[in-house]
Amino acid sequence: MIGILDSGTGGLTVARALGDLLPGMDMTYLGDTGRFPYGSRSSEKINAYVDQGVDFLVEKGAELIVFACVTSSAALLSRPGRSFAVPFVDAVTPTVDRLLALPTCRRIGVVGTEATVRSGVFDVLINKRDPAARIYARSAPLLVPLIEDGRLDRPETRMIAKKYLHPLKVRQVGALVMACNHYRLIRPLLQRKIGKRAKVVDCVSAVADSVKKYAEQHMRGGGGQAGAGGSRTYYLTDITGRIASIGKMMFGRNLTFQYCELQPRDKAQVRAAS
Ligand code: DGL
Repeated sequence: MIGILDSGTGGLTVARALGDLLPGMDMTYLGDTGRFPYGSRSSEKINAYVDQGVDFLVEKGAELIVFACVTSSAALLSRPGRSFAVPFVDAVTPTVDRLLALPTCRRIGVVGTEATVRSGVFDVLINKRDPAARIYARSAPLLVPLIEDGRLDRPETRMIAKKYLHPLKVRQVGALVMACNHYRLIRPLLQRKIGKRAKVVDCVSAVADSVKKYAEQHMRGGGGQAGAGGSRTYYLTDITGRIASIGKMMFGRNLTFQYCELQPRDKAQVRAAS
């Protein structure tokens, strides 16, 4: 089973892409809607939440964890010596791979949450492989709330996207990394605002393709054969009517969500020891 971990409902874009690529694979989604958003939090806090989410999914039987959220992935990658009980695919590494597979592009724009940009992980990973690349990263805190409010191509969203992307556009970036799984819903708008000369790189398809490759090589049912499984379970740490409709927008159809509570790691360990 693949466990998909996200800060809320944005990761349903990844779950949807994975469902299309690996129809026969069992998948369990966990969105931490009760503590959303992660993008305005410290990396210590995000990593503590991530540990709880991973524990939950491993307990449900996940053999692979997919960090659908770029913000969580960035916090995770900036933590030295990270390791879990099962392997994982993060959302940053495959996005950087995809970016660097483009024909030489040395001026790169990155747009994401405050925590993602603050982590500097895109700069580090890109410059490790291409020291000459110049990275211009910009946080865009208003885009996620606008997207969740369904304002995908409204004047206010166009104006704000333009304001965020203007500093990258004047640097004449050749690629723009959409470093947030929500942005897939406004890709045409971001492409218009950055200009058609810039190639837009989507973290959602990058992570989904990377998981498919992993599953085919390492997991039973990884080829996505019909009848090999294909169960889907969606957990959220808070469920409201609004969240259900945001989920529908992210996934493209209504989903049935189950409520769950995550255990702080130390408490769970104390209980296990007693
Ligand atoms: N969707 C998250 C990401 O991919 C951002 C939302 C949040 O702030 O939790 O980075």
